[in-house]
Amino acid sequence: MTEPNIIDGKAFAARLRARIAECVAALQQSHGLTPGLAVILVGEDPASNVYVRNKAKQTVACGMRSVEHRLPHDVLQADLLSLIAELNADGAVHGILVQLPLPGQIDEQAVMDAIDPQKDVDGFHVINAGRLAVGAAALVPCTPLGCLMMLRDRLGDLSGLAAVIVGRSNIVGKPMAALLLAANCTVTMAHSRTRDLPGVCRRADILVAAVGRSEMIRGDWIKPGAAVIDVGINRVPGTEPGKTRLVGDVAFEEAVQVAGAITPVPGGVGPMTIAVLLRNTLIAACRQAGVAEPDL
Ligand code: GUN
Repeated sequence: MTEPNIIDGKAFAARLRARIAECVAALQQSHGLTPGLAVILVGEDPASNVYVRNKAKQTVACGMRSVEHRLPHDVLQADLLSLIAELNADGAVHGILVQLPLPGQIDEQAVMDAIDPQKDVDGFHVINAGRLAVGAAALVPCTPLGCLMMLRDRLGDLSGLAAVIVGRSNIVGKPMAALLLAANCTVTMAHSRTRDLPGVCRRADILVAAVGRSEMIRGDWIKPGAAVIDVGINRVPGTEPGKTRLVGDVAFEEAVQVAGAITPVPGGVGPMTIAVLLRNTLIAACRQAGVAEPDL
């Protein structure tokens, strides 16, 4: 049986996908519009391959169009940029995602910034990052938005809560801070240079761990009753020789004894990321077509 303080991200994501599928069907009926998502994968990284396959499968399952472009690992940046220019101009494509990480010869931010901001369903374009920072209508990075949705679902109004985010990446930490600030939390950003990290974490009503270090955050770093969102996905050696397992940035077995709510790894934040990507694609399609967007 699932413990009552465990947040089931898999079930939450499935409910979100079901609502997206209903909205997509309604949009098709009312406006003859089918949202389209183009995914570009450079190289053969096995984890990225699995990820991209899952994205395509779930896009189609929600009734949207999925287009996949695979480029060799030694592709020139200019060739990647000209594919993006083609997709920017393609009216059937409403969302463009370039799977990260990219090989070393390519400047990732230059690639992100080449995507039409209206089609930037990852929310990584500097225009969308800026819009989020000033509180304007933006496309918001999928992982932090998924975290916010789960927090709102569990806690309701977040106003006045002390939120501590461990990790300051452009993909998770910074947009998570902007979202929680907009939700009226008192936000602290902690990182590798923070002094007395355990003490800072202990002040949090909401603790978001996004550092990429396996089980770094211990049970006694957590305020009793706090909501803990674990964004980490770290592969570590398993108990049997040659086997591996996934763990988060939080020592789950300790934390689950203390937290009021906690996301497990796997099955917490991970499943939400793709569901929010589909949500962003639907929202992007509505905005491009000038159709009222659903409240998702
Ligand atoms: N690689 C791992 N996560 C992500 C993501 O959310 N977006 C992109 N584009 N690449 C990723």
